[in-house]
Amino acid sequence: MASLGDLASPGGVPALGRTVVDAASLQRRVGELAAQISRDYAGRNLVMIGILKGAVIFLADLMRALTIEAEVDFMAVSSYGSSTDSSGVVRILKDLDAPVAGRDLLVVEDIVDSGLTLQYLLRTLTARDPASVEVCALLTKPERRQVALQPRYVGFEIPDRFVVGYGLDYAQRLRRLPYVAELAEPVPG
Ligand code: IMP
Repeated sequence: MASLGDLASPGGVPALGRTVVDAASLQRRVGELAAQISRDYAGRNLVMIGILKGAVIFLADLMRALTIEAEVDFMAVSSYGSSTDSSGVVRILKDLDAPVAGRDLLVVEDIVDSGLTLQYLLRTLTARDPASVEVCALLTKPERRQVALQPRYVGFEIPDRFVVGYGLDYAQRLRRLPYVAELAEPVPG
């Protein structure tokens, strides 16, 4: 069984623990969210903004299940802090390709943990004069929240555990899993 220490070696992958959300539940919930978003944004000017890299799989599945047209754009941000705790100081690594004034923006995030990354993103996007800004997060850890924000669309609320899979990584590993799982060993802070 690989341990977290093995990640130093190429190809080292940490062992998985409990499954937190299985593949069938993910697909079912993504379908429900897409139906709700399709209703809410019918006749509007939707741009879905995927936050790289963690939201890629969620965004791809969500878009395929929409019944309305939506443009897609991406932002990549890096948060200064330890590997598992964000500091709230966020650097934009990749910005949107197009202006968003007057558009209805839906930020698609993998997980809201402290909420600090999202708080920064919402501030930046709101300053660009969109018609509206909402958030769709696959996962949220309410116990960890440091700022008061509640995404309009949430896939699942999960306990305060570090999880991987369905786009979420540990040290760039395990994003490919079609389900969300804990690691066998706790992640060092
Ligand atoms: P926040 O600023 O603390 O809300 O952190 C949000 C970002 O931290 C997410 O977009 C993820 O990239 C990362 N993150 C937070 N919790 C987890 C986790 O359990 N697994 C993988 N990445 C996580």
